[in-house]
Parts: sequence; structure tokens; C-alpha cells
Amino acid sequence: MKTLVVYFSYTGNCGLVAGVIKNSLGAETLELKLEDDKERKGLAKYFWGGKQVFSHAKPPLKPYKADWEQYDLIVIGSPVWAGSFSPALATFLDQTKISGKKIALFCCHRGGKGRVFDQLKAALTGNTVVAERGFIIPSGANRGEALENVRAWAQSLSKI
Ligand SMILES: Cc1cc2nc3c(=O)[nH]c(=O)nc-3n(C[C@H](O)[C@H](O)[C@H](O)COP(=O)(O)O)c2cc1C
Repeated sequence: MKTLVVYFSYTGNCGLVAGVIKNSLGAETLELKLEDDKERKGLAKYFWGGKQVFSHAKPPLKPYKADWEQYDLIVIGSPVWAGSFSPALATFLDQTKISGKKIALFCCHRGGKGRVFDQLKAALTGNTVVAERGFIIPSGANRGEALENVRAWAQSLSKI
């Protein structure tokens, strides 16, 4: 099954998950990158990110090639920002009208997934969402166990 993993990652967790899925399934990856790549830390990061979510921003992305039609399964991953999926993904979904595909969703979060999966499903109507999974800070203290969970999830996707 030809698989594409599309993801945004600000602090590396979704990137880590995408890498494990890539290795487990022999998938290809598309990392979405913000045109504004200034690094924000601490509270400034939360204010900046939260403001984008609440204003429904669609921030410009660095150029990318989205030849999604050729894939059997598209895995889409995002960090949870203020209970929502990341604005970078909002830009991508607005620009790239994926339809008729099997989709698996993942998010990385600190403890609250919010409405991320409902929102993503609403943005992806016309596709079949076959799986969804949240991972709590996989780069954190339980990294080994978290990555094992990602591997197991990826394997389950190969049987879909
Ligand atoms: C602007 C901002 C808002 C966030 N809001 C939430 C939230 O609502 N719920 C939550 O559990 N984690 C929240 N987080 C934490 C991230 O979802 C978490 O650190 C995630 O693993 C980051 O993924 P990444 O490293 O791929 O960027 C927020 C982080 C940022 C920067």
C-alpha cells in the first residue's frame, strides 16, 4: 500500500511520529513548513500559536509538492494547538483538496486532544477516515514506549 504522511511539527513530536510511520510502512513524507520560520519559545509561542488558531489563520507555507492522488493511504498529523489542529495544516487543507482517499489521522498533544479529529474529519469530507490516534509528547520521558505505540499503530494501518 502506497502511503504518504503529511504533517506539521513545531517542536519535533509529530516529526518523530511521522518518521516511525515512514520506517514502518516504507511511506513517503511531506513536512509542511511555515514560511515564517522564526523560532518562538515559552509563552510567546503559545500566544502566537493560540492567536492564529482563534483568528482561523491560514499562514503561508514554504513551497511543497502535494501529488496525493498516487497514494492509497494518506496519514495526516498535527500538533494540538488550543484544542485545534495547527494553522499550517489549515493552509494545506485549504490549498489541497484531497478527496476519495483513505485517511488516517494522528495528533501529538500534552494531554488534551480537544476537537482535533472532529475538525479534521469535517475538513476532509469526501474521504474515508479509517483510523485516528493521539500521542502524548512522544519525545518526552516515555519516548521508548511511545514510539513502540506508534510502530504498533503503523502496523495496524498496513492491514487496513
Ligand atoms: C500554541 C500551542 C498550543 C497548544 N495547545 C495545546 C492544547 O490545547 N492541548 C494540548 O494537549 N497540548 C497543546 N499544546 C502542546 C502541543 O500539542 C504538544 O507539545 C505537541 O506534542 C507538539 O507537537 P510538535 O512537537 O510536533 O509541534 C500546544 C502547543 C502550542 C505551541
